Amino acid sequence: MSDYNRRDFLKSSAALAAFSGASAAGALLPAALAQAQGTSAKVRVGLMLPYTGTFAQLGVAIENGFRLALAERGGKFGGRELEFFKVDDESDPPKAPENANKLVQRDKVDVVVGTVHSGVAMGMAKVIRESGTLWINPNAGADEVTGALCAPNIFRTSFTNWQTTYALGKVLKAKGHKTAVFITWNYAGGVQMMGGFKEGFEKEGGKLVKELYLPFPQVEFQALLTEIASIKPDAVVSFFAGGGAAKFLKDYQAAGLKGKIPLYGSGFLTDGVLEAVGDAGEGVETTLHYADGLDTKKDNAFRLAYAKTYKLQPDVYAVQGYDAGQLLAAGLDGVKGNVGDKAGMIKAMESAKIDSPRGPWTLSKAHNPVQDMYLRKVVGKQNKVMGVAWKALADPARGCKA
Ligand code: PHB
Repeated sequence: MSDYNRRDFLKSSAALAAFSGASAAGALLPAALAQAQGTSAKVRVGLMLPYTGTFAQLGVAIENGFRLALAERGGKFGGRELEFFKVDDESDPPKAPENANKLVQRDKVDVVVGTVHSGVAMGMAKVIRESGTLWINPNAGADEVTGALCAPNIFRTSFTNWQTTYALGKVLKAKGHKTAVFITWNYAGGVQMMGGFKEGFEKEGGKLVKELYLPFPQVEFQALLTEIASIKPDAVVSFFAGGGAAKFLKDYQAAGLKGKIPLYGSGFLTDGVLEAVGDAGEGVETTLHYADGLDTKKDNAFRLAYAKTYKLQPDVYAVQGYDAGQLLAAGLDGVKGNVGDKAGMIKAMESAKIDSPRGPWTLSKAHNPVQDMYLRKVVGKQNKVMGVAWKALADPARGCKA
C-alpha cells in the first residue's frame, strides 16, 4: 500500500470506528469500509504473480489480460474502480504464505488474483482458506486447489494440471503410439500433468514406460535426452513452460530427436515461446484449452485489442488473465459493486457464463472451468487448432467435498 493510501485507509477507518463505536480502527475490514462508504471506495485487488524468473513473461501476460477486461468495461467492475496491490512471488513456494499475507493482512485486499506456479498456489491456499478472502487463480493448475482444498471462496479461470494432459492418451492412441516417456520438472505442476497423461493413456491401452524429472527450474536436459534416445519410446510427452520450454524444444532438436521420436505435451510447451525457438517447435502436437486460429468473433476481437494495446500477440496466459477479470466483473456486477456481500458475489461467480476467447465456459461445482480441450499443432509461429480433442472436459475434482 502506498503511504498515501495507507494514511487514507487509516483515516477513514478511524472515522468510521469513531462513528460506529468500534474500539480498534484497524479491525475494520475493507469490505465493511466499502459498504459504509457506499460504492465510492475502490475494490482492492491483490495481484500475486511471478514478475521475475522463468515464469515472468507468464505473469505479465496474465496482468495484461486482466487489465484489458477492465479497460473494456470502462475501468469499472460493478460500477466500482479497482485499486491494485502487487507482489512478485518469484515462483518460489517457500515464500508463498508470506507473500499471500502481504496482500491479505497488510494490504487488506478484497480479492487475490494469482498465481502461475502450482507449488506457490499450494502455499497460498492455506492463507486463503483461513482468511476467507476471495481468490481467483488465473493459471496454477494444482489439482488440489479445486480438489481436496476446494472452498466457496476459491475460484480458478484456467485448468487443473490433470485436465491439460488427460486427452493426450486418446490422441496418442489414434496415432498408433503404444509406449511413451514423460519428461518434466519435479514439482506439483509436472507430476500432476504426468498423472493426467498416464491415466488417459493407460485407459487407451498405452504404456508409460518411464517418467523423467529434473528439479524446477533447471534446464540441463542433456542427460535425460540421452536416456530417451536409448529407451526409444514411440512418443515423448512433456510439460515445460516459459523459458524452460523454449530451451527444451531447442535441445530436443539439437539432440537429434526431432523427426525421430514425435514430441507431444500439454500446450504450455509451445505457448508463448514460438518466436524464441525458430523451427524447433515445428510439428509438435499438444492439447490445451486455447489455440491459434479459432477464428471466432470473440477471439478475433480479443486478439486485435490485445495486440493493439500491448504490441504483443496474446497467448493462453493472457486469456486466463482476461477471464479472471471477466469472472470478477460477473461477481461485482451481481452485487452492484457491494464487495462486502461475499455470498452474493460467490453466487454470481458460480453461475457466470464466461464468454472467453477460448470459447464459452462455465464453472464446475468445485469452481474449475469445464472446457473444450483443443488439439493443436505447431505450424510456423502458430499453435494451430486441429480440432477438439475432448469436448467439455471436467476435472474429476477428487477429494472436493463442496
Ligand atoms: C503450474 O505450476 O501449475 C504451471 C506453471 C506454468 C504453466 C502451467 C502450469 O504454464
